[in-house]
Order: sequence, then structure tokens, then C-alpha cells
Amino acid sequence: MSLSDRLDAARARRGDAPRPAQRPTLVDLAETESRDEPAAPLSSRGVPSVGVSSVGEDDTPRFVAVGRDDRVSSSPTEGTEGTEGAEGTEGADAGGSVGDATASDGLDGLREQASEELAERMGNRLTDASLDDAQLLTLARRELAGIIAERAGHLPEATQLALIDDVADEALGLGPLQKLLDDDTVSEIMVNGAGHIYVERAGRIQRTRSVFRSEERLRRVIERIVSRVGRRIDESSPLVDARLPDGSRVNAIIPPLAVGGSALTIRKFAARPLRAADLVELGTLSEQLVPLLYACVQARLNVIVSGGTGSGKTTLLNVLSSFIPADDRVVTIEDAVELQLQQEHVVRLESRPANIEGRGEVTIRDLVRNALRMRPDRIVVGEVRGGEALDMLQAMNTGHDGSLSTVHANSPRDAISRLETLSLMAGMDLPLRAVREQVASAVDVIIQITRLRDGTRRVTSISEVLGMEGETPTMQDIFEFDFAAGVDAEGRFRGSIKPTGIRPRFTDRFDDLGIALDLGIFHLEEAGR
Ligand SMILES: Nc1ncnc2c1ncn2[C@@H]1O[C@H](COP(=O)(O)OP(=O)(O)O)[C@@H](O)[C@H]1O
Ligand SMILES: [Mg+2]
Repeated sequence: MSLSDRLDAARARRGDAPRPAQRPTLVDLAETESRDEPAAPLSSRGVPSVGVSSVGEDDTPRFVAVGRDDRVSSSPTEGTEGTEGAEGTEGADAGGSVGDATASDGLDGLREQASEELAERMGNRLTDASLDDAQLLTLARRELAGIIAERAGHLPEATQLALIDDVADEALGLGPLQKLLDDDTVSEIMVNGAGHIYVERAGRIQRTRSVFRSEERLRRVIERIVSRVGRRIDESSPLVDARLPDGSRVNAIIPPLAVGGSALTIRKFAARPLRAADLVELGTLSEQLVPLLYACVQARLNVIVSGGTGSGKTTLLNVLSSFIPADDRVVTIEDAVELQLQQEHVVRLESRPANIEGRGEVTIRDLVRNALRMRPDRIVVGEVRGGEALDMLQAMNTGHDGSLSTVHANSPRDAISRLETLSLMAGMDLPLRAVREQVASAVDVIIQITRLRDGTRRVTSISEVLGMEGETPTMQDIFEFDFAAGVDAEGRFRGSIKPTGIRPRFTDRFDDLGIALDLGIFHLEEAGR
């Protein structure tokens, strides 16, 4: 079908486009550079993964006991989990006699001593900015080889090597996180204090068997991560939200704000973003919805994706954006760039938090207003969370139709009222009715996406916003998820998204523009029930 061909072609084009060419114009470039371009991406660092033995021998049994019951999902991926656990302890096993408490304690002591001595010998070279990660690692390993030979020369060579890996990884690398960052099946990493590391794989959250040996070590890794992106985290600024050089997003928050120990969340950047076909395969979209969404975007309808955190809004927005014709001028506006538009004529803008002195903040709202002066055909706002909602709605109402955005809401109706509330936050002193009218006339379609209990993300409804009836915005559902189909033995939802039988009014627009769409998809009986 021509749609997927178009997708492929567009993707091929985009693959050649150098990303850094599309820098924000408004943002002070010097600042952005220093924030955006530190050393090598975390995940491609040459830190050997054997040494991921922050799973200390002492800690492992304690964890296993708790971990089994504690796990968020006991999914089919448990097999993987087991393997990972084995890997996690491998480093430790390689470094000592298995199950021998005394020997393990000895090794822990050795690691401790070795890392202290390493810190001493390396001195301020450890923070020398002129050394890149690889040079630093080489230096550290050379020093460590000496230290280990002196203190543990009697141990088998494999053990010595494992010790070097361990200590180097802890001193310079990301400890137990490295392996998770390198693991492509992991899409999200969540650390809740030193003893609890969770990952998300294929939509499932699982607890890993890895741990940090202490809060202090976790803190060191967090500091290492945020300092690489030119930020700092300490008592005076105990939370950081940043983007890593490879595009992954990081949030860190430390005590006293994080009461149970430092928390770190890394949403890994998907090198290959999900496409329409992937969403169909994952069950997020049904096959018949793809041509509909394509037609909506082509017909310049204003579309809002609504959903909870992590429900897949940005991913779906990215897919919708891929349906924008190549010759449209698009300005994208995000808190942290995530969208990967495939078209050439795209200007990407990213907001900026205030610096340490509290200055230099550029908000999403500033960017939306600026974007209007950039002669865009369409504006894509990653997520509206504040007063920018009003500016965006005004833009949608004044010639920038075909704009796309997402909002955090639990239903299409909730999305409407959320947009109202956010618009009121713009502080323009508009009467509620006026704001409602803005919303009702700007938004054409709301796509609700939901992360269901079984871990899958599904489009659960598609609604058309019709306008106002008296004081209330009116809307009608065109497609709805069939929750009545229940769940199977494994707890998976059996249902799929089904037409309600209503033919949306916006199809008139398709006719006017000559956009072909099989209207049969709106009929109940042809939905193949
Ligand atoms: N349809 C989907 N099926 C499975 N996983 C998805 C889907 N959409 C997104 N994801 C994954 O879920 C995570 C959150 O997706 P994202 O689009 O950023 O959510 P949101 O913008 O709603 O917070 C990402 O790791 C992403 O890879
Ligand atoms: Mg998002």
C-alpha cells in the first residue's frame, strides 16, 4: 500500500538529515551547545559490562528473597529476568568463590580498598575535563592493574580482571545501569533508591536483580550522569530533568526531596521510533485506523492526542507527524526534543529551564508565540501543560490548522476540560465561555491512548469535537475500544477498537479536498465483528 511506501521513503530521507542542523533559533545557542554536547553518549561508552557486580554478594540473597514477591509483573519475560540476574551476579562470581561468605567479604573489602587507592592515585585527573571518557578509563585501568597486582596478585587472573572491571566501572562508569543502558530491549530504567532498580521491557515493568551497593554510590552515578550534560545536582538544586547526548531523558531527584533515597528515571531514546505499522502490530492501532489518521492529518484537522504519562502520546504524535506532507513548513516545540520528524522542512524548538541564578528560562509558551512569527504551516507542540494551550488554540483557529499536540488527560472529555483549564492559566482574564469556544472550534479530533492493565498501549477512542451547544462543547465518539470483550486467561485484553457507527462530519472535508478514504470503516457491520 502506498502509505507504507511513503513512510519508508520519508524515513530514508530523514535518515540522511543531520540532526544538529536543526537547532533552536530562539534559544541562546552558546548555552544550548554547552548543555547539549558533552562527551560521548552514555550507552556507547567503552565500559566493559562484565563488571556490573554492584550486585554485591551480601545484597543478592536479600534481594532475591524480596524481589520475587515484589515484582510488579510476573510476565513471560521472567525468563529474561532470570538470565539477567545470572549475569548480574556473574561478575561477582567470577571475582570470588561462589557462596563462600568469607571470601566474598574479602573481595568486597578489596574492591573498597582498590577504589579508595584509585581515587588517591588518580587525584584530580578524575575530574579533568580535557580527558575524554575513553582516556580516563584507560588511565584508571592502568592504575588499577597496579593496585590489584599488589593487593591481590595471589588471586586467579580472571578474578583480578573482574576486580579491575568492577572498580573501574564503579569509579567512572554507571555501575549497574551500564548494562541496562546497553540493553536495547530496555526502554525505561527506574531507580528507587539504591536497592531497587526497575526496567520496562516491551511495555512490562520488572524489577531487576541489580542494585547499587549504597546510596552514596547511586548518588555518585547520578552526579556523573547529570554533570555530563552540564548540570549539577546537590542540596541546593536537588532535582534535574535533562536530556542525554543520545536523546534519552533523565530525571533525578535526591534527598531530602526523595525521602526513601535518590530516585533516577531514564527514558531511553528509541533509535528507531515506532511507526504506524509497528503500532498496528502492537495492537495500539487497528489497521483500518491508519488510513483514517492519515486522512485527518492530510486534511489539516487539528488533532490532540490525549493520555496518561507513558501511555504513548509522544510516540503516536510522532506517527501522526509523519503523515504531514513533505512541503509543509513545520515548527515543533518541546520541553525536551523527542519527536523525530521525517520531513525536511522542520524547525525544532526546545524550551529551556532557568539556569542556576534563575535566569534565562524560555518556556513552551514563549516558543509557541515565537513560532507564530516563523511562518509555519503547522505547529506541533509535544505536550501542552500550561498557558501555551491558549496560544496553541489561537494558532489552530487562525490559519495554522493541521496542528498537532498532546495533553495529559484520561478521556476525550477530560482532554477538553484540561485544555480549558490550561488556557485559563495563560492569565488573560478571558471568560470561561470564550475559552470553551476557542477549544471547541480549534480542536477537530481527540485520540485517546491508554496504557491498559495488561501493559499494552491502545488507542481507546477517537472522538470528533463538533462545537458548542449552549455552554458546553459537544463531541461524538467515532471509534471506541471494546472493553466488553473482557480479558483472556493471561489477563490480556481481548477487545479491539471498533467503530460506533457514526460517520464523522469531518469526512466532508476529505470529500472537498479529494482525499480518498473508504467510508466503510465507520460502519458497524463492516468492522468484521
Ligand atoms: N504503542 C506502544 N506500544 C508499546 N510501547 C510503546 C507504545 N508507544 C510508546 N511506547 C513506549 O512507551 C514509552 C513511553 O512512550 P511515550 O510516547 O513517550 O509516552 P508519553 O508521551 O505518553 O509519556 C516509551 O518507552 C515508548 O517506547
Ligand atoms: Mg510525552
